[in-house]
Amino acid sequence: MSFIELKNIYKKYPGADKNSVTDVSLNIEEKEFIAFVGPSGCGKSTTLRMIAGFEDITSGEIYIDGQKMNETAPKDRGIAMVFQNYALYPHMTVEKNISYGLKNMKVPSDEIKKKVDWAIKVLGLEEYRRRKPKNLSGGQRQRVALGRAIVKDTKLFLMDEPLSNLDAKLRVSMRNEISKLHRQIGSTTIYVTHDQVEAMTMADRIVIMKDGVVQQVGKPMDLYEHPANKFVAGFIGSPQMNFYDVTVNGNIVTFEDGSRITLPDSVTSKLGGRQGELILGIRGEDIKLDAQNIDLFKADKQSAVVENAEVMGNENNLYFTFGGASSVARVSKYEVSGIGDKIEFVFNPMRIHFFDKQTEICYI
Ligand SMILES: Nc1ncnc2c1ncn2[C@@H]1O[C@H](COP(=O)(O)OP(=O)(O)OP(=O)(O)O)[C@@H](O)[C@H]1O
Ligand SMILES: [Mg+2]
Repeated sequence: MSFIELKNIYKKYPGADKNSVTDVSLNIEEKEFIAFVGPSGCGKSTTLRMIAGFEDITSGEIYIDGQKMNETAPKDRGIAMVFQNYALYPHMTVEKNISYGLKNMKVPSDEIKKKVDWAIKVLGLEEYRRRKPKNLSGGQRQRVALGRAIVKDTKLFLMDEPLSNLDAKLRVSMRNEISKLHRQIGSTTIYVTHDQVEAMTMADRIVIMKDGVVQQVGKPMDLYEHPANKFVAGFIGSPQMNFYDVTVNGNIVTFEDGSRITLPDSVTSKLGGRQGELILGIRGEDIKLDAQNIDLFKADKQSAVVENAEVMGNENNLYFTFGGASSVARVSKYEVSGIGDKIEFVFNPMRIHFFDKQTEICYI
């Protein structure tokens, strides 16, 4: 049996006209770091809160460590949770907020002090330790909430957007700290985020949700390379994958503006005879501007005019219209192009995806 098992979980809030979570089944192994990711309102927090016991389950079963938990109170589920809205004790200082749970659990005071000092240091809260929550910024409060969870010796951490209020730099460093922490203490962790970069960089496996329904579960690179459908393909990866309405006829792909490319036989055969109207997807890094690649796929050389250029330092995102759709290519800093420049490029045909136009299922 897996450490956590969700079996056909549904949630319909009282008075709501539709489910917030529909038929979620999931097995999580001990020590895994799982990220729930998806757009706002897709049911991430609701699912997490049902695992924690703060929200009733409309139907389905939840097992933690082999025990059915449907009716078990949150405090008896062996979890530490970081809430999306922090929920700190307003009358307590930072260090009291962090130590409170341990005091309740009757942990010896020298051990509490050690753990609280460690958490405060890891979280960079030294200068705020005697302040109360109302005198802290959102990001500082969020770190206190994180501190309160990480000092607990628990087998299961549930974190709901624990870094959402931090500035970009702090978010990256906290992301590393949480990953390090997870490797050190090895507690199973479920981490909710709407940020696909956090999910990709931190998780062993990602659960991607839309409208209360799990779209795909897999290792970060599996989702990136083999998305189950157009939603997953578009959600994972930045900038977003380029999508085009195309017509496939044998090896020939025709775009809305009449542009054409020829697929190698190996790609056409993977399509398994699917023809006609499809959606073609290609990531920005697979649109190639360099001479070597253009030479390789000479016959399919395309051109466009750069409409916008994002210079990131290490690489550039070039925006242009092609095939009747706005497109973006990710190019190296050595292939600088400015707004108004004409670019020539090829699609790496081995990296093209095709989706069904109606179901949006990914064929390759
Ligand atoms: N207490 C509630 N009563 C009724 N509907 C609710 C309640 N809480 C959440 N919902 C609805 O359930 C759906 C899922 O909400 P949930 O909070 O789980 O989303 P989320 O994925 O965590 O989103 P976010 O990224 O914005 O935090 C939403 O449509 C939301 O409006
Ligand atoms: Mg939420």
